[in-house]
Amino acid sequence: MTFTGEVADAAAAHALGPDYVRAVGKVITSHVRNELAGATVFDEPAIALAPGPREKWLACRIAMEEYGHHLKFQRLASELELDGGGGPTLSVFDYRLTSWADFVVLKALVDLAEVVLMEELAATSYLPLRDLVARLLPEEHFHVSFGMAATRELLAGGDEAPAAVQRTVDDLVRFTVPFFGRSGSANNEAFRYWGVKQRTNDAARAEWLARAGAFVEGDLGLCFPDVEPQWAG
Ligand SMILES: [Fe+2]
Ligand SMILES: [Fe+2]
Repeated sequence: MTFTGEVADAAAAHALGPDYVRAVGKVITSHVRNELAGATVFDEPAIALAPGPREKWLACRIAMEEYGHHLKFQRLASELELDGGGGPTLSVFDYRLTSWADFVVLKALVDLAEVVLMEELAATSYLPLRDLVARLLPEEHFHVSFGMAATRELLAGGDEAPAAVQRTVDDLVRFTVPFFGRSGSANNEAFRYWGVKQRTNDAARAEWLARAGAFVEGDLGLCFPDVEPQWAG
């Protein structure tokens, strides 16, 4: 038996018990940490890397939105009386961003991973989280479409461009595979038991691989690395 109800607010979550609060809390505090990590190591540095005023304006907007995502997830964590600060961030944040070109490819691929995660949370049992992701998804979709359009422009920029974009794609795919968590994760089992999520980590990863692969191969005409949806950690 799995939980199929809807949980209206923090009081209802606590009434359901500590296991529910722990499950939904892990998902929320992971976003608290990772939205902040992304804004700090990718989006804010991208403002300085941006080549001109229009790109700087776009990078400022994206950084503002990502810091905003952190603050909004932090508010949900506070309502549940959770401390969102501690714990590890995802390994994708170990990627070293060195150019504006890296940044735009990163927005196309890594924010697409975030979109895949958020789309699943649009049906989560915890209604405040469902409402929040419904408000944030248009901004994440904008980050992805910005990244995809800017990557297409890069490819039109000269003979060196395809090889450079291909290298960034290869690196970023490798860094993003762990983003969805391990195959057979006990956390994911609890998330599915409580209706916080619906899919296994591997199913979410397979969805991202399919969409990212369609962009890289179908749209850009480059090679998508050969990656399995299973990841043992
Ligand atoms: Fe975000
Ligand atoms: Fe984003």
